[in-house]
Amino acid sequence: MRQGERRAIIGPNGAGKTTLFNAIAGEVPVSSGRVRFAGRDVTRLRTHRRAALGIGRTYQITNLFPALSVEQNVQLAVQSLTRRKFSMLGGGAPKGEEVARVDEALATSGLAARRRDPTRTLSYGEQRQLEFALALASKPALLLLDEPAAGLSAAERVVMASTISALPRSLTLVLIEHDIELALGLVDHVTCMHNGTVLVEGRPDEIRANARVQEVYLGRPHDA
Ligand SMILES: Nc1ncnc2c1ncn2[C@@H]1O[C@H](COP(=O)(O)OP(=O)(O)OP(=O)(O)O)[C@@H](O)[C@H]1O
Ligand SMILES: [Mg+2]
Repeated sequence: MRQGERRAIIGPNGAGKTTLFNAIAGEVPVSSGRVRFAGRDVTRLRTHRRAALGIGRTYQITNLFPALSVEQNVQLAVQSLTRRKFSMLGGGAPKGEEVARVDEALATSGLAARRRDPTRTLSYGEQRQLEFALALASKPALLLLDEPAAGLSAAERVVMASTISALPRSLTLVLIEHDIELALGLVDHVTCMHNGTVLVEGRPDEIRANARVQEVYLGRPHDA
């Protein structure tokens, strides 16, 4: 991918989309191939080192601390990247740079008004927005979004789509999404995966018209 590119990864359940993210972020080792990021080979780097270089991600399953406030969840995400050791209780007030990052992440994800509320009081849609804020808090250069709109209502999907679309164009974005129309409206490039390999790559209009993509979505047998 080029810097600033926005790409969707689509494909049926079990195609290997999340596994691809795990390989890029360093959560599973690769059995072959290399992972290159920003001009360097990161294949052997641990997850936290890749995160420090600018690879940020969200998870398919919500991953938050329910008893902490919205703001504290974001603070933890920021501090885990900026400090070697930290403590919410004894460990000193957040520094200026950290406060700015927290504010920016909350504003971009539309959660500024809920910052003092316990995370368990958020709706499911707001929890997905918070996950998004956590990923943004690390100021990633590459953001991997795994089904950010999964389980959202129609109204919440609209909010999520406009939040994604408003992200800075300098941010490189990869979006896994089962709602094809939602995904194709947000990206310039699409990779369709099937059985752990790339089936087709193209622009959104090419993907819509592609017979092989239609076949895997209709579930017909496929030998390609
Ligand atoms: N380390 C691994 N070794 C072998 N198989 C694996 C490994 N990790 C995942 N798999 C398998 O690879 C397949 C792809 O899983 P993955 O979660 O990447 O799919 P997905 O495209 O994200 O699907 P979904 O749309 O349901 O989220 C699954 O059958 C999974 O069990
Ligand atoms: Mg998945």
